[in-house]
Amino acid sequence: MSDAVDAGGSVGEWADDPADGWFPESVAARYDGPGGANAPEAVTPAVDVLAGLADGPVLEFAVGTGRIAAPLAARGVRVSGIELSRAMAGRAAGKPGGAAVEVTIGDMTSTRVAGKFSLVFLVFNTISNVVTQDGQVAVFRNAAAHLRPGGLFLVEVGLPDLRRLPPGQDTVPFTVAHGDDGGGYVGFDQYDVVTQEFTSNHVTVAPDGTGRFRRVPFRYAWPAELDLMARIAGMRLKHRWADWDGSALTAESTKHISIWEK
Ligand SMILES: C[S@@+](CC[C@H](N)C(=O)[O-])C[C@H]1O[C@@H](n2cnc3c(N)ncnc32)[C@H](O)[C@@H]1O
Repeated sequence: MSDAVDAGGSVGEWADDPADGWFPESVAARYDGPGGANAPEAVTPAVDVLAGLADGPVLEFAVGTGRIAAPLAARGVRVSGIELSRAMAGRAAGKPGGAAVEVTIGDMTSTRVAGKFSLVFLVFNTISNVVTQDGQVAVFRNAAAHLRPGGLFLVEVGLPDLRRLPPGQDTVPFTVAHGDDGGGYVGFDQYDVVTQEFTSNHVTVAPDGTGRFRRVPFRYAWPAELDLMARIAGMRLKHRWADWDGSALTAESTKHISIWEK
């Protein structure tokens, strides 16, 4: 996934806790770098939409460092979050609005927080971090359990790049970059179209020729499969967009934002 974080295990200078999964301290430390997903042009449209949908308290599954939750709270929305990684969650409080986000450490497939919410949201491809169908269904059920009747569950996730796979091939490169200093980076996804599992692979080579190879597991699901998960959890599709601007999904879309209603 080109917009997935280059996430992986310890590289030595950080004390990574295995309980933090794919987002330990070494990843959290560089997660909020400038540009990309943290750029205002990426964050503001999402926060605008979420603030517009909020009609009371909201809950973010996999809230991370508060990239979205903190600016949403800064707008006056009451935001709670569930997050697996203490290293990621620990960074939210330092941001404007972040201190107001109430984060519970836990797994979004099962962790419950008190209260009923007008909106539960799960952005930045993170439904795919749950690598089994049963686990993804559990996320939908857990979202529904936190919603009041009429409440909304919003998911932002990339569409699998399978149209770019010629017969017999399982790998789609998304970035090949090299610097004048001899360093470089290659990112590619590798798909198993039978299990719907895929890995996001990140090969980074330093100018001195040393390198590292990180491999992060995911599971893809087509929008139609997510609609069935929503129905299992007692929700129906209300909106499906290609992006935060509300544009229509087309055959060329690279991601979708889907909203189901309880
Ligand atoms: C790509 S980051 C997204 C964070 C944040 N939502 C954002 O938009 O920046 C994925 C986050 O999901 C968390 N995560 C992954 N699986 C999880 C699970 N089963 N339950 C709770 N958090 C999870 C990771 O620890 C990480 O912080």
